[in-house]
Amino acid sequence: MSRSPMIVRTVPALRRALDGLRARKATIALVPTMGALHDGHVSLVRLAKRRAKKVIVSIFVNPTQFAPTEDFGSYPRTWKADVARLAAEEVDLIWNPDVKVMYPEGFATRIVPEGPAIAGLEDRFRPHFFGGVATVVGKLFTQVRPDFAIFGEKDFQQLRVVARMAGDLDLGVKVIGSRTVRERDGLAMSSRNVYLTPEERQVAPALYRAMKESARRLRAGDDVEAAMAGGAELIVKAGFVLDYYEARHAETLAPVASVKDGPLRILVAAKLGKTRLIDNIGV
Ligand code: PAF
Repeated sequence: MSRSPMIVRTVPALRRALDGLRARKATIALVPTMGALHDGHVSLVRLAKRRAKKVIVSIFVNPTQFAPTEDFGSYPRTWKADVARLAAEEVDLIWNPDVKVMYPEGFATRIVPEGPAIAGLEDRFRPHFFGGVATVVGKLFTQVRPDFAIFGEKDFQQLRVVARMAGDLDLGVKVIGSRTVRERDGLAMSSRNVYLTPEERQVAPALYRAMKESARRLRAGDDVEAAMAGGAELIVKAGFVLDYYEARHAETLAPVASVKDGPLRILVAAKLGKTRLIDNIGV
């Protein structure tokens, strides 16, 4: 039996609903999403339920993190299916503001994150992205004031940026990373996987295979440059156009010269046809 979550679309209604949810000092976990929910999101919700008494999922396709050339207009929107999934998970509340609620007429404030947000990875190819993410997540945190917020490790740099921002701005929320959920062949689940053609879908797991091979070589003592060059070659041979393929320090995202500088994380972004995929693994 599933229980329908409360659906809230305005800030005053959210405040009222939060007063109810917080009765008897119940802890709250927030799972921020842009909808088009898949099993990866469900795993975030389940982690949230283990951490807190009440779970709120936000569904908001945030325009400020898309460049004009990107897929804001065509980003998958699957509202009915999303609500059904969240009902099955017994989520307490869906926070689903309109663009005008999040960015009312005259909105003129932006969070500009630094540190992990300027590590030279996603930010090099999507310079608008982390400003948009930090601004919207900062708003979500101040609107909901959750005790915990759950983010997927698949967007690893985003996770680091948001955790840093929450700490730097004393937002009082513990940011928790949740392990990437993969298809059986290793492809990381992503709302954008629907863009892949059947042929590209066959090729896509090459990203994960390449990262695993680089990680294996690093653990075996190969130097960083050689292990990463080998993985990059596998990715390009599979048909991807690489944006980056790098081993970085898992906490700071700073470049590393050797495995001894670790813990390491391998991070990749690459285009397959029109679809840009990102992924990462720990070493
Ligand atoms: O990862 C996402 O889905 C988005 O970047 C987020 C964190 C919901 C902010 O819009």
